[in-house]
Amino acid sequence: MRMASSEIPSTSELPQFPESLWERTTEFPRFPRLQGETNADVVVVGGGITGLTTAYLLMKEGLQVALVEMGSLLHGTTGHTTAKITAQHGLIYDQLIGHFGEEKARLYYEANEEAVRFMQNFAKEHGIDCGMVEEDAYLFAESDDELKDLKKEWTAYQKLGIPGEWQESLPLPLLVKGAIKLPGQARFHPLQYLHFMVQELQKGGAAIYEHTTIAEKVDKANGRLNLHTEDGASSITCNYAVSASHFPFYDGGAMYFSRLHAERSYIVAIEPETSFPGGMYINCGNPKRSLRAAEWNGKQLVLVGGEGHKTGKALCTIRNYETLELYGASLLGAKNIPFRWSAQDLITLDQVPYIGQATNDDPHILVATGFAKWGMSTGTLAALMFRDRIMKRDNRYEEVFTPQRFKADPGLKNFIVQNAGVAKDLVAGKIGLVHRKVDELKNDEGAIVKHLGKRAGAYRDEKGQLYLLDATCTHMGCEVDWNEGERSWDCPCHGSRFNYKGEVIEGPATQPLTPLTQHQHEG
Ligand code: FES
Repeated sequence: MRMASSEIPSTSELPQFPESLWERTTEFPRFPRLQGETNADVVVVGGGITGLTTAYLLMKEGLQVALVEMGSLLHGTTGHTTAKITAQHGLIYDQLIGHFGEEKARLYYEANEEAVRFMQNFAKEHGIDCGMVEEDAYLFAESDDELKDLKKEWTAYQKLGIPGEWQESLPLPLLVKGAIKLPGQARFHPLQYLHFMVQELQKGGAAIYEHTTIAEKVDKANGRLNLHTEDGASSITCNYAVSASHFPFYDGGAMYFSRLHAERSYIVAIEPETSFPGGMYINCGNPKRSLRAAEWNGKQLVLVGGEGHKTGKALCTIRNYETLELYGASLLGAKNIPFRWSAQDLITLDQVPYIGQATNDDPHILVATGFAKWGMSTGTLAALMFRDRIMKRDNRYEEVFTPQRFKADPGLKNFIVQNAGVAKDLVAGKIGLVHRKVDELKNDEGAIVKHLGKRAGAYRDEKGQLYLLDATCTHMGCEVDWNEGERSWDCPCHGSRFNYKGEVIEGPATQPLTPLTQHQHEG
């Protein structure tokens, strides 16, 4: 151990609301809200890597594209990723062979590998200054139990012909029992990469709208789709709609909320005392630890990620940052810790993303979601698949990722467990005892409080202004909980998140939390 926790550089200078390295170092133009009625060949809902790449590829095919984002472009999961581009997705290939057989497991690898190559080539061909660096990816075991799992994964690599290499040690000062190295992967600055696509979309005349929430109900007439804004004031007609909005904006009876769960994880950027040897690392046990290098102001940083948990289920999110800071500082020393941020990921029942037709009965509404923590490669893959589908070209990966696979899937057991968990959260949230009162809140503190005999969400900002909200999630009525690390209200049932004012940050909820007035204080 290099460093005691008391010696770790203070992060008290960090902004009150965490900001990622990517967001701090990239500026995007701002775009208007959708107003009135308009039309396009394809409407892409969601301004992250999947949405922008889809819009870009289709525009290059000569289609008229409109992209609509609920908030600001690239401020969702893409702005908060660790930005590893790899087909090494933790312990997955052994599991995929067990669930789907070798052929589909191999296709999963090849699909991701193709996306990795696409991104590397794209950055090179267009001379995009996005710090794209080729790296070896390592999956490592630290205990005997983890080693058993890693060996099964290694057998899966060999069966599938994945060009990995078994390693007894790592380039890092970390004692391991074994590791699988996958050469030829990459890391990059995701927003600088996507900045290029935004510029190209502007130059090519694609329409981009921000702060525009599309309602779930889609009207269909004369072979065209009509999408409406949530307030009903504006609409857009198209031949195809693509849901690239992290949580699907369109459900169509497919019950995506019951087939996905949301997890939050944390990242700290440390400036190491010892030089980082390169490589991208992730352990195969728990708690998760992920490492990769990055550059900032001419200095080398190391991004340390991990401490994942189900959304709305953390006791103290600030402690998650502190744990990662201690881990990084112990491993490499830390001169400075200039950034910390967190991300939300959606995970499917069988760990394989849902990419394809959103429901059985409409081939014109497509969805991509559930990338777990690997959305750089799978988001790009989804865009490539959507391009092929809309341009009526065959794509050999469709069957592996189809959201319709669910019915015959062994993940049904997960479905029951997951939804039993949601039912439990729904009840537990309603009957949990509340001890705090509004008057007890200090500045910059939030909590569930008792207000007029009921539960309410309260946050007092740094200047003492109180924000009092109905703590019932507007999606399906679970109770939200306070996330002190992000100053947000998070729902444990399907992962909706709201800022301290009650505005939606993450769906599936589309309506804000209801504000309450402080008529009286409960004694
Ligand atoms: Fe579904 Fe809150 S996200 S009830």
